Amino acid sequence: SKTDHQLLVIFGASGDLTARKLVPALFNLYVARQLPENFAVLGVSRSPMSDEEFRDRVVEKSPYLEKRLDDLREDYIKRFSSRFFYEDVGGSYEDSYGPLKERIDRINVQMGTRGNYIFYLSTPPVLYKTIAAKLAEQDLNKQVEGWRRLIVEKPFGYSLDSAKELNQGLQQYFNEKQIYRIDHYLGKETVQNLLVTRFSNSIFEPLWNRNYIHHVEITNAEQVGVEKRGGYYDKSGAVRDMFQNHLLQIVSLVVMEPPISNRPEDIRNEKVKALKSLRVMKSEEELHQNTIRGQYVASEVDGVKVKGYREEEGVDPISTTETYAAIKFYVDNWRWEGVPFYVRTAKRMPTKVTEVVIHFKTPHHQIFKDVGMDNKDNKLIIRIQPNEGMMIKFGVKVPGQGFKVERANLDFYYSSLAETYVMQAYERLLLDAMQGDATLYARADEVEAAWEFVDPILGYWKKGANVRMYGYAAGVWGPEHADELIEGLGYWRNPGE
Ligand code: BG6
Repeated sequence: SKTDHQLLVIFGASGDLTARKLVPALFNLYVARQLPENFAVLGVSRSPMSDEEFRDRVVEKSPYLEKRLDDLREDYIKRFSSRFFYEDVGGSYEDSYGPLKERIDRINVQMGTRGNYIFYLSTPPVLYKTIAAKLAEQDLNKQVEGWRRLIVEKPFGYSLDSAKELNQGLQQYFNEKQIYRIDHYLGKETVQNLLVTRFSNSIFEPLWNRNYIHHVEITNAEQVGVEKRGGYYDKSGAVRDMFQNHLLQIVSLVVMEPPISNRPEDIRNEKVKALKSLRVMKSEEELHQNTIRGQYVASEVDGVKVKGYREEEGVDPISTTETYAAIKFYVDNWRWEGVPFYVRTAKRMPTKVTEVVIHFKTPHHQIFKDVGMDNKDNKLIIRIQPNEGMMIKFGVKVPGQGFKVERANLDFYYSSLAETYVMQAYERLLLDAMQGDATLYARADEVEAAWEFVDPILGYWKKGANVRMYGYAAGVWGPEHADELIEGLGYWRNPGE
């Protein structure tokens, strides 16, 4: 579809995200000729910098732009970087909006962006409301000559209350249709493909319910620790950093009812319903039985010493922030009644992987006794990343006498769709916002419904003393105790094992 001429104003432009994700995504879109002809970027941050310095920093000397195009590269980069501008707004993001407005007006005329502006907020979230208010003071929220959109980065709130407050704060100045809450997991092809898997295949959807599904397992693992983000992470933890947003988004796509069409509001309405049907855990006993938290401890991986979480820079030495979380829950609706969901996320795991496993029930009447524990259920494994694709595990007869059953795999890899260019998450999401398509952005009620489920867990963990924090060594699949969550099976499926 058509992309209007437009100006993208990035707040927090000197931060990591701009250099690492946003500019590389824009560059790829530029190379793929997906950007409109009249397109400009205005970086906004606290400290003064010239346009040239900004161009140098995020484009011309960027280590993050993809090394492709060989000869053309230099040329492309020069032309691309000439669309970048910079303006500072002073120390607290509270002053200088008058001059900022004038600068925007000038760039708008010079670059022909027709008054279409996206404001991308990549500052600490405490500033979101202030920035929205200041933009409104300058009438930059009003859609008169062009359209105005506001993209906000995560974290979206720290709790249900703060998320509500943030929603109300932004909605004072921008209406919900103008607000795009980014969750980069929704930009992943394999996450979007959950919808296609379910709703375009009659071999899956009829089975996608309590009659045939025994349980659902979702694993999100990272090999890295908290890296240089200790300061941020220690106030956040695995549940706020990954579960409340990315993983519950995946859950909502697995759980939702079929939408009546693929229009943004039809899909988002069903996702909200799905999130609202997660059974909120109320009693301490429930919370105790269904949640496990852990922290990585100092250890050695392949002969290399790895710091424990509490020794990381920016982390409180007696921190009780979790780097591992495993949560079991139920979905209270017609489709899912009684089907347990097991979701875990962690840093310092053996490998980086995200996958969804649908475990189907065993046949009602087993006539083949010789079936190993592992071979009992049919599984659909959806590999979100890496090795993007899907695998079905089903039983086949072991050749020879008698009826022994063994598992065989039907395996699909996205990479075998040769010549398909798979867009990175930020590329896809930026392009969508530029075209005004909010399907892959989280709506206010969605975010609040996710917090509603998460709040009691964090509240319970905060009580500390009687809630155990399990230590685990780097490079293992978290605390062993987490296996006990999965009754019947007794262990998680560890990808790659
Ligand atoms: C971010 C989290 O949202 O997602 C990080 O803040 C995490 O802690 C990252 O590393 C993981 O994203 P991906 O796309 O690499 O799985």
